[in-house]
Amino acid sequence: MNQHAFVEESPIPFIDVAAQRRRLGRAVDDAIARVLGHCQFIQGPEVRALEAKLAAFCGARHAVACSSGTDALRLVLMAWEIGPGDAVICPAFTFCATAEVVALAGATPVLADVLPDTFNLDPASCERAVATAKRLGLKPKAVIPVDLFGLAADHDAIAAIAAAHGMAVLDDAAQAFGATYKGRKLGGLGAAAAATSFFPAKPLSCYGDGGAVFIDSDDLAARVRSLRVHGEGADKYDAARVGITGRLDTIQAAILLEKLKIFPDEIAARDVVARRYAAGLGDLATVPSVGGQSTSVWAQYTIRLAPGRRDALAAALKARGIPTAVYYAKPLHRQTAYRNCPLADGGLPVSERLAEEVISLPMHAYLEPAVQDRIITAVRGALAR
Ligand SMILES: Cc1ncc(COP(=O)(O)O)c(C=O)c1O
Repeated sequence: MNQHAFVEESPIPFIDVAAQRRRLGRAVDDAIARVLGHCQFIQGPEVRALEAKLAAFCGARHAVACSSGTDALRLVLMAWEIGPGDAVICPAFTFCATAEVVALAGATPVLADVLPDTFNLDPASCERAVATAKRLGLKPKAVIPVDLFGLAADHDAIAAIAAAHGMAVLDDAAQAFGATYKGRKLGGLGAAAAATSFFPAKPLSCYGDGGAVFIDSDDLAARVRSLRVHGEGADKYDAARVGITGRLDTIQAAILLEKLKIFPDEIAARDVVARRYAAGLGDLATVPSVGGQSTSVWAQYTIRLAPGRRDALAAALKARGIPTAVYYAKPLHRQTAYRNCPLADGGLPVSERLAEEVISLPMHAYLEPAVQDRIITAVRGALAR
């Protein structure tokens, strides 16, 4: 194999964490070293500094840093005292954590369908899921819209349904921190609460597990802060409520503070990558559509193909060193743990179809044009066959 052929076929990372490390230079190492110096590994000053910066970034009154995106969602449901007999409406086409927290609370996830163009919760199906819940004798207490793959859901439509039925809205922005809806950042929309994840594959990520909750109500924020530390009350050793170990490590907060500085720049770079994909592939595959009211931070770049074509494309790209992923091959109601969840009246035909059609391509802020051209050329070649 000559040198050129080697470069052509060398493996491409799905997400290039190392490229971001190079850009950050010593900043992250120095930030970690400062924590190692002051030794406040739990609830150290970086955690408070991060919370202030996150809240300012998205326009929320409170940001509460916590141990993961899952715990961020869970803490809010705990604070709302959602439990047995309650229904929480979730989209079926999402990562399982969205419904997992509902089940962990002892409540019932009622699964609704998503829209084919945005992959986000379909307001009409959400409305039908409320009817399903009521018919089953459950109390619909909350809805968890997901901003899937980084794209903000239709929050006004969902808020209107929630208001009509007395439900709270918990925005699962695990994949979408930094995205906007009608010009405002997620977390700052005034939804009762929003949660995000800093898992390493997320647009804003740490070097382990982490998450945050965004809240406007002082009272809810105080309860979530208490629940995050074993339900502590004014007296640390007199627990006011049953809580969890839900804190974000100080080292992860220090890392996030450095990464937040370059995050706006990275969002812009991701958008350039998305536009290049759309221009290069839009005539051969269904590329993501971003409506006028929402922006995406492109946690994933997910295209749709006619059923039956996905596996051949994945294999052809793999042979050329290009990784792909399928989010999600099984909607929640097809997964063992969630197969008994009630489904919105009318079923979940869009979730079912998407599960057969979607495939995600490498996406990150450091995808060089030449490398992206190689991906686009390979996809085009495989789809033309
Ligand atoms: C939609 C969604 N919700 C919740 C989570 C949970 O986040 P974490 O992995 O930080 O617990 C994820 C992360 O993968 C997610 O994609």
